[in-house]
Amino acid sequence: MLKTNSLRELLRKEIIGQDQAIDSVVRTVVVADLGICDPRRPLGTFLFLGPTGTGKSQIGRSLAKVLHGDESAVVSVNCTEFKNPHDVAKLVGAPPGYVGHEQAPFLTQEKLEKRLTIVLFEELEKADRALFDLLLQVLERGELTTGRGVDLSFRNCFVMMTSNVCAKEIDRLTSNEVMGFGPRLAVLQPENADQRIKAACKGAVENFFSPEFINRIDEIVTFNPLRYEDLTAILEKFLFETRVRVAMTGVNMIVSESAKKFLIEKGTNLRYGARPLRRAVREYLEFPLATLIAESDTANSIQTVQVETGEGQLRFYFAQTARGAMAV
Ligand SMILES: Nc1ncnc2c1ncn2[C@@H]1O[C@H](COP(=O)(O)OP(=O)(O)O)[C@@H](O)[C@H]1O
Ligand SMILES: [Mg+2]
Repeated sequence: MLKTNSLRELLRKEIIGQDQAIDSVVRTVVVADLGICDPRRPLGTFLFLGPTGTGKSQIGRSLAKVLHGDESAVVSVNCTEFKNPHDVAKLVGAPPGYVGHEQAPFLTQEKLEKRLTIVLFEELEKADRALFDLLLQVLERGELTTGRGVDLSFRNCFVMMTSNVCAKEIDRLTSNEVMGFGPRLAVLQPENADQRIKAACKGAVENFFSPEFINRIDEIVTFNPLRYEDLTAILEKFLFETRVRVAMTGVNMIVSESAKKFLIEKGTNLRYGARPLRRAVREYLEFPLATLIAESDTANSIQTVQVETGEGQLRFYFAQTARGAMAV
């Protein structure tokens, strides 16, 4: 049986600075695990809003990691692929006699059958109304009538929807003129910005989605913009993942504080959340390091690489070279 506290702790290690979102997911999962949900509805339905790159999609993947031991164990629907009314046939199948009838639909009962399945609908606002109509059925009665007349049941599923519907408002609130900072430094914003973002998102959602749709969602959560401390913690998470991958090539990676500071500096841009940080880790650390490891003809003997800064870039020192000698 899943325990609230341990589930919360596990998710907090994965998702930084979004405790409200974590709490709403945790309470739903614990109730679902007990099996005391309404059997005519999905186990829980969520709409995640807020700035881009702040963990809205990741929370679904992280929940899959915690529940199923695998981040990729999610059924992920990218709503940008359903821009036209007839696109929904790709999701649920076309009726006999219609174009695409012979193609297998993306959603099948098999995919939704597993206990505590996580279904992600990404960037909901990009989809045609036809998809909302389907979702309305899911939210209302936990099942969906497909093009072939078969009912798909979502009763074993958590339905998590993400939306950037308030992106414009958030952009305006976090832009230079309003915050008085350049976007790179805007993470140091005043506290009340979070409240203003939440209010702006609520307004945008009410303008965009119908009241029937909004009222059927269990939890609507606005993600917080990431702060400097959050990015520092997320960097540790990224570096841990890199360290694990590098270790598979037989190399132990040690990253100095100055190198971490360098990566944070290169990867800080509030407007895009943690994505620029991920890119900075790839561009300045993973790519050059991978090249060095691949090119090194003594690959088997390399044991430790120390990552430092020097002359405005990252420097890599390998342990088997003379102490303090530079490898690049
Ligand atoms: N709060 C967070 N905690 C940990 N990692 C995060 C967080 N926010 C974003 N990331 C990382 O940044 C990247 C983009 O996050 P994602 O959840 O896909 O963004 P979005 O909010 O736009 O859906 C992913 O690699 C994710 O792991
Ligand atoms: Mg996303």
